[in-house]
Amino acid sequence: MSKLFTPVAAGALSLGHRVVMAPLTRMRSDPGDRPNALMRDYYTQRASRGGLIISEATPISRQGYGYAGAPGIYDDAQIEGWRAITDAVHGRGGQIVMQLWHVGRQSHPDIQPNGEAPVAPSAIAAEGYGYAAHGPVPFTMPRALERAEIPGIIAEFGAGAARAKAAGFDGVEIHGANGYLPDQFLQDGTNKRTDDYGGPIENRARFLLEVTQAAIAAFDADRVGVRLSPSGTYGSMSDSDPRATFGYVASKLDELGIAYIHVVEPRIKGTELIAEGEPIAVHHLRALFHGTIIAAGGFDRAGADAVLETGDADAVAFGRAFIANPDLPERLRLGLPLTPYDRATFYGGDARGYTDYPFHPNAA
Ligand SMILES: Cc1cc2nc3c(=O)[nH]c(=O)nc-3n(C[C@H](O)[C@H](O)[C@H](O)COP(=O)(O)O)c2cc1C
Repeated sequence: MSKLFTPVAAGALSLGHRVVMAPLTRMRSDPGDRPNALMRDYYTQRASRGGLIISEATPISRQGYGYAGAPGIYDDAQIEGWRAITDAVHGRGGQIVMQLWHVGRQSHPDIQPNGEAPVAPSAIAAEGYGYAAHGPVPFTMPRALERAEIPGIIAEFGAGAARAKAAGFDGVEIHGANGYLPDQFLQDGTNKRTDDYGGPIENRARFLLEVTQAAIAAFDADRVGVRLSPSGTYGSMSDSDPRATFGYVASKLDELGIAYIHVVEPRIKGTELIAEGEPIAVHHLRALFHGTIIAAGGFDRAGADAVLETGDADAVAFGRAFIANPDLPERLRLGLPLTPYDRATFYGGDARGYTDYPFHPNAA
């Protein structure tokens, strides 16, 4: 029997099956970056008994924005809309954790408060585009954070976690992947600091580990996860020794006793599949992290079965397939065909390409 449909624990979270919904930015919040009823319907459709949903990345401050229209968790006024979502997911027997986000340099003055420059560990620009309210904008040169500003950002992650708890989330996931702020601190291509947050890996990892500890102060460690992308180049990321960097991070997160690490596998580049290959990232980290490991990136049913069978991962997150298949766990379980996704409606817009994907008539 496939392990995909057997229970597993991730810290205090008990999963009835191992098909996890990956975090997916959809940019459909209300003014004030408040979650709305349309978002509630979208998450409700994708909730399943024993299933785990990871929310779309959710900024912990206005400065943390690189995508206008993403729902926030930086203001108490955002709690109520999230509460409706967590209640609905729980009502369907599912669980949901919030992914906490600060984009760092992956932004533009048009998306920043008062038109300011985005911030980063060092003044090095990324290639790519952010999404302002008026459309895509190329990333600009960030301003290097002052040493004195860093504790405030860590505290904002902690406050975001506390609001997520007040909104009824089952836990939080720190977005430490895809070239956003914690990742920018981790990797030496983006971190040229000479203070205690730069230089050797012990210093470069400090930001992510302190952010994780701030989340642990709000939830217990067994309700905190961290997403990492050791092989990702999205956001112009690079590290001179990713195995050492991410190996260190995995061991330190292991010491903190968090619920899970969530690893984007090397087969994926941004949202594009580049090539089939062995999922080496989870394989490398498995020896160092003894909690639950969620693998993500380009998985189908067969790939998921395979990575669970090797024991390198305990659960598998699906992104694009979940966008187009609200009943994905049932479709995978029954071997039903999947509806293809429409890329044009990924980011922003209304119910079209969001809550109008069909349920399969044969899925329970
Ligand atoms: C529209 C879209 C939005 C995404 N938003 C996020 C996000 O908010 N946070 C995150 O960590 N990853 C995000 N990702 C990456 C996915 O979580 C996932 O890692 C990626 O799509 C690969 O998995 P898949 O092959 O199953 O789609 C996004 C991907 C897509 C396609």
